Amino acid sequence: MLQQKHLLGLEGYPQEDIQAIIDTAFNFREVLDRPIKKVPSLQGITIVNLFFENSTRTRISFELAQKRLSADTVNFSASSSSLKKGESFKDTVQNIEAMKIDAVVMRHPAPGAPRHLTEFIDAVVINAGDGTHEHPTQAILDMMTLYEKFGKIKGLKIGIIGDISHSRVALSNIYGLISMGAEVILCGPAHLIPPYITDLGVKINYNLDEVLEWADALNVLRVQNERMGVGLIPSTREYRALFGITEERLEKHAKEIVIMHPGPMNRGVEIDSAVADSDQAIILDQVLNGVASRMAILYLLLGGKYEDKDIK
Ligand code: CP
Repeated sequence: MLQQKHLLGLEGYPQEDIQAIIDTAFNFREVLDRPIKKVPSLQGITIVNLFFENSTRTRISFELAQKRLSADTVNFSASSSSLKKGESFKDTVQNIEAMKIDAVVMRHPAPGAPRHLTEFIDAVVINAGDGTHEHPTQAILDMMTLYEKFGKIKGLKIGIIGDISHSRVALSNIYGLISMGAEVILCGPAHLIPPYITDLGVKINYNLDEVLEWADALNVLRVQNERMGVGLIPSTREYRALFGITEERLEKHAKEIVIMHPGPMNRGVEIDSAVADSDQAIILDQVLNGVASRMAILYLLLGGKYEDKDIK
């Protein structure tokens, strides 16, 4: 059982609850290796996936997690809903809740939209990414994957590379990693790293080679193409030269750094294919652990106390 009813973000989220989710996720990870990847843990529970923004990984892994737990699931797509006829967000969601649902998983372009949702529905709300604010389930799957690789998070040295200002992945990772005892250095274009972010317990270093020398693992952020052309990242070639994770750059450092990326990747911009497809990248492990992490989150928010019999 988790202390908070909803999962809206990792800011102030109890450290022991992050640990409980990761521990439970490793149990569910075993279920995913079985020939029949299904347990009855959430039988009778109904979950609606409300996606107001595009998604591949988060949407599919939430849906798979729900099916693996035997929950009933419904997928809502804003583009084919009555929102297009002018129905309000509040009316839309209250009508869906009237059909007796237990939880909503929501991705929305507006920061704070999941918290706003909790003000007018009783169902459990899980934030699947809200604009430039938070992406808590991504950070939890990232931390689970670090745990799997290193056997710990406390004391790990993690570099987060890219546009920190607009990254919900970065912010949730910062809250989670600092809470779990990791050291974090942010690296990217100076105008895309808010200086006050050091108040959260992280450091900033604009020199990627120094960060590579220091780090155990890098979380490489997507260059958000939608921000190109508005002056934030004037040239992808310049970005790659200064902050791209290339084979040549990694070869200058003696140790093997673990490479993570939340996806979707821009190959040849923030990361080269030779790195993304190499043995030091754990990007597809992150994706698999996304299903296990989301199973754990759904189970702990909706299924009550973890009992071994539920996954046997
Ligand atoms: N990592 C992530 O959120 O990917 P999607 O946008 O495909 O869900």
